[in-house]
Amino acid sequence: MRIAVFASHNGSNFQAITEACKSGEIKGEVALLISNNKKSQAIARAKNLHIQFLHISENVEPNEQLRDTKISSLLNEHNCELVVLAGYMKKLSSSIIDSFGGKIINIHPSLLPKYGGKGMYGSKVHKEVLKNKEYVSGVTVHLVNSDYDKGKILSQQTIPITENETPESLAEKARRVEHHLIIKTIKEIIEKKNRLARYEKKTK
Ligand code: GRF
Repeated sequence: MRIAVFASHNGSNFQAITEACKSGEIKGEVALLISNNKKSQAIARAKNLHIQFLHISENVEPNEQLRDTKISSLLNEHNCELVVLAGYMKKLSSSIIDSFGGKIINIHPSLLPKYGGKGMYGSKVHKEVLKNKEYVSGVTVHLVNSDYDKGKILSQQTIPITENETPESLAEKARRVEHHLIIKTIKEIIEKKNRLARYEKKTK
């Protein structure tokens, strides 16, 4: 399975996925990193990991349609079968979502449907969770549709909240859990695809 990862800042999930592919844990390959932030740690990681990357943003290509065409053609050129949004701070346009429908997944640092939607990202999520005195938080991997954080939930893992938890400590815990959950979910997607291929071959 050829995978494209989209990331705007740190890129630790991108790195975790890439390393799992390189070690053979995921039977796939990260073909491409796409980032809208030239100075992101994600691009620095791509360079170190020898993964091809594209920096594309409003500054590079102000015309939205041309931007989308560039992204879509690159995904097609690289035969990407799965797109992982891992800390990508830009909403994908409906044209990309339509052409890659069902093949785009996102990692979100809460137990969706709680603490999701427009404006709920990064530390804002953890601050809100703690403000509401929740006992557990968690992370979710879900399919992407045109509604923020509303696509079908594929997997979730809870994180217990301890006394004296801070948004920073919760973010750190979430990140560790995310690395595990995104790898597990990608493996499940690949297994499902292989099962389907075997079934189709048998029934031909
Ligand atoms: C993660 O917390 C993810 O849930 C959110 O953005 C963050 C990305 O972390 N969507 P990293 O850039 O992969 O370290």
